[in-house]
Amino acid sequence: MKVLILPDAQAAIQRAADIIARTVIAKPDAVLGLATGGTMLPLYKALAQRHRDEGLSFAKTTSFNLDEYIGLAPDHPCSYHHYMQEAFFAHVDIDPARAHLPKGDAPDPQAASLDYEALIEAAGGIDLQLLGIGQNGHIGFNEPTASLGSRTRIKTLTDSTRRANQRYFASFEETPRYAITTGVATILSSRKCLLVATGEDKAEAVANMVEGPVSAACPASALQFHARATIILDEAAASALKLTDYYENVHPQGQDSIFD
Ligand code: GLP
Repeated sequence: MKVLILPDAQAAIQRAADIIARTVIAKPDAVLGLATGGTMLPLYKALAQRHRDEGLSFAKTTSFNLDEYIGLAPDHPCSYHHYMQEAFFAHVDIDPARAHLPKGDAPDPQAASLDYEALIEAAGGIDLQLLGIGQNGHIGFNEPTASLGSRTRIKTLTDSTRRANQRYFASFEETPRYAITTGVATILSSRKCLLVATGEDKAEAVANMVEGPVSAACPASALQFHARATIILDEAAASALKLTDYYENVHPQGQDSIFD
């Protein structure tokens, strides 16, 4: 794991945007795995700005989002389809036909999950998977105890995740209980992973992910098995790590080491 610690959230977001931009410039038809959540909003804004100001193009990319709530139609204001449209797709030149999310409103969500996994495979797999982390260590919607060998499927959300995401809905009761999410093994099959976490409320989950044992109790810890996983943190999200001196020594100011 490459742990990059940046002084604040803004610097962490710019660092993540650099890595995504570099990927897309090197491979214009890259397959991107995309994520949702509050952490990603400034990142999508930064990428849209680079599109506007520097001509960073997503025209040939394909994207697959990690997850979608079951029961929400794409035009539902709380769906991840809607989030992606508002936060990113509407502001860049990505081809809507190649910007994929699981179909949360499919009549058969189980079949839709299998189709989604097959679609990722047919696209040649994911080049760069962007990830956030839940306060309970989830990635995508792979909640604690999710199989580390899982592929895209339906997951029941924990009450803690529903509470964390309740801010987008009218009430806790209206916050969906189920989601389609790519699995931990789907995520690990990506050629590179880029996880971004900012803020102190992520510190414990980050410490479990980076320095804890690999365990389904913290699904993000499975990234320890990934040969090319980069973790971008601000100082607050890094505050519960024990080996901070080492990470800062290898990657001063979150820069690449000479051996990258
Ligand atoms: C949701 C998403 C995750 C995301 C998490 C963190 O639960 N399914 O993919 O990582 O939120 O969100 P935030 O960035 O708002 O803390």
